[in-house]
Amino acid sequence: MPPSTPAPALPRVRVLATGGTIAGAQTGGSRGYQAAAFSIEALIGAVPQLATLAQLEVEQVAAIGSQDMNEAVWLKLAARAQAALAEPDIAAVVITHGTDTMEETGYFLNLVVHSAKPVVLVGAMRPATEISADGPMNLYNAVAVAVHPAARGRGVLVVANDEIHFAREVSKTNTTQVGTFKATHRGLAGLVHAGRLHLYAPPVRRHTTESEFSVGPATVLPRVDIVYAYAGMGRELIDAAVRAGAKGLVIAGVGDGNLNTVALAATAAAARAGVAVVRSSRTGGGVVERNLEISDDELGFIAADELNPQKARVLLMLGLTRTADPAALQEMFFTY
Ligand code: SIN
Repeated sequence: MPPSTPAPALPRVRVLATGGTIAGAQTGGSRGYQAAAFSIEALIGAVPQLATLAQLEVEQVAAIGSQDMNEAVWLKLAARAQAALAEPDIAAVVITHGTDTMEETGYFLNLVVHSAKPVVLVGAMRPATEISADGPMNLYNAVAVAVHPAARGRGVLVVANDEIHFAREVSKTNTTQVGTFKATHRGLAGLVHAGRLHLYAPPVRRHTTESEFSVGPATVLPRVDIVYAYAGMGRELIDAAVRAGAKGLVIAGVGDGNLNTVALAATAAAARAGVAVVRSSRTGGGVVERNLEISDDELGFIAADELNPQKARVLLMLGLTRTADPAALQEMFFTY
């Protein structure tokens, strides 16, 4: 008999856990639940089919609801992901995360992690103890995406509800439904059904290996605040952000990133004082272009292009680690 060929070893995947509803537990039959109640070992233990996809190694980086996500955890996550991806035998990183701020964490990592290996964020809308919890299938699909060779080089991805999203494009659009994630501009990265992938066109904006941004645990991210515009708004919140030390301001403007006369005057004063001002939009879609109703050239503003306010804040924070020049920052918004 010919010698039997040993089965090839399954790829090694590092799972970085941060908490969220995917690890959430209801208490006493109530509809309420506590996020981040289960350990990552418990989540993986609930999906034995994962053992057919990969050898998983786990690290609990945080145990929080993602409303408590912050820059310190981002820096730690980026460092842990980068360290894992630098290990030759690690094929990919999967990050479990709450859905509320997943789009911000994903975009941050998309800009600062330098590797072509897949980085996949996954969460769930229903806690692990709820009827028809979505976490187990989302986790299975996330690992299936992470180990697929074609997922390499596509930037950071988000997997949920049988969909694969680019971290740059995805946004949470619904408070409770499992189909909350939508790609607002450039469409889906692909579909994944019970572990089978259908990948679409790769991303067009720069990311990961081509990104100019890098961070270490000692990086200090400059303060950037978001101010939401509304009919009849005053200047007080803009002035307060500047007084609080903001180095950047993102305006969640009405329509095409607009502001009323009073707020515009306050924002222009902030820009003259050296605060980087980005005009984004509260509409949830569309491009904010330069110099339509507001003269960005004259006022020294930056147009957010396709980024929603929370993602514009991420890029502005990283941009400000390199330059405060509005023209150079504008170029970053056209590039990333
Ligand atoms: C969270 O973001 O941690 C809570 C909501 C969720 O994960 O769906």
